[in-house]
Amino acid sequence: MMRLQTILLPLFFFLFGFSICAAKKSLLLDKPECTQKRLQEVDRNFLRLIAIGEFGRKFPEKHSDLPKFCKETNRLIDSMIKFISDCYPPDEQRIFKIYFFSAKRTVKPFCTKKRTKKLQQLLELGPCLNTIINQIDCLDQLTNKTRELIPYQIGRDKINYACCYYVDALKCAENVLNIQCMTNNAKDVILDLVRSIGGDMVNFACGDYTESTDRCDHIPPLPKNKFDKSVKVDKKLRSIAFAQIGMVESMEGFSAEP
Ligand SMILES: *[C@@H]1O[C@H](CO)[C@@H](O)[C@H](O)[C@H]1NC(C)=O
Repeated sequence: MMRLQTILLPLFFFLFGFSICAAKKSLLLDKPECTQKRLQEVDRNFLRLIAIGEFGRKFPEKHSDLPKFCKETNRLIDSMIKFISDCYPPDEQRIFKIYFFSAKRTVKPFCTKKRTKKLQQLLELGPCLNTIINQIDCLDQLTNKTRELIPYQIGRDKINYACCYYVDALKCAENVLNIQCMTNNAKDVILDLVRSIGGDMVNFACGDYTESTDRCDHIPPLPKNKFDKSVKVDKKLRSIAFAQIGMVESMEGFSAEP
């Protein structure tokens, strides 16, 4: 945890610096190759990369699943990096990089040549996890709730809400993993994996609004009078990456529409 924070602290400052200074309104650069269609494709790639949920993929179960899994992972990451370097200004590229950083770190134990104990542990939980992996909607709920913050004119308080939604998502994951075939140990391994995917943003942005405090139990309901009806939210994008980016961009009153 400490080490991660050290790495991410500069990103944290960047994020807030960005939300204060950004004067650009649009998400996508105005170039012919930067279409809405391609944006949606990247969004779906992200969902597939993360693996959990309706648009996810199967978790590897044996060593022979790994080459295909890793090849696809690299393909997904490369296609996203390409899109992002083509279509986003450098500042926004940096937000995305947090996700690549997490994604790469999360899949790393699967995609090294070494047969580590960690890898063995991960493969063993594949068969059980795969019975529910496509039905887990915790991440989808998190994405929807994060996106619903976009029209609220509550400045940086949005981050606190987003952080508490993340805490909810972890509780949700803990609940859905209460299935017969899942051992306690396997559950912990999966929860670690989940934390490592979504956690980077949280670790550097959430302060006290985390699992380990009761801040989120006392957060007030969203103020209805701060809801700005004129803000349009793009609901076609389904990944947590774009929901959080939209949320961050909206903090200075930007439109969420790319
Ligand atoms: C999230 O929002 C999408 C699109 O609006 C909807 O289809 C989906 O059912 C929602 N998911 C959850 C878990 O509420």
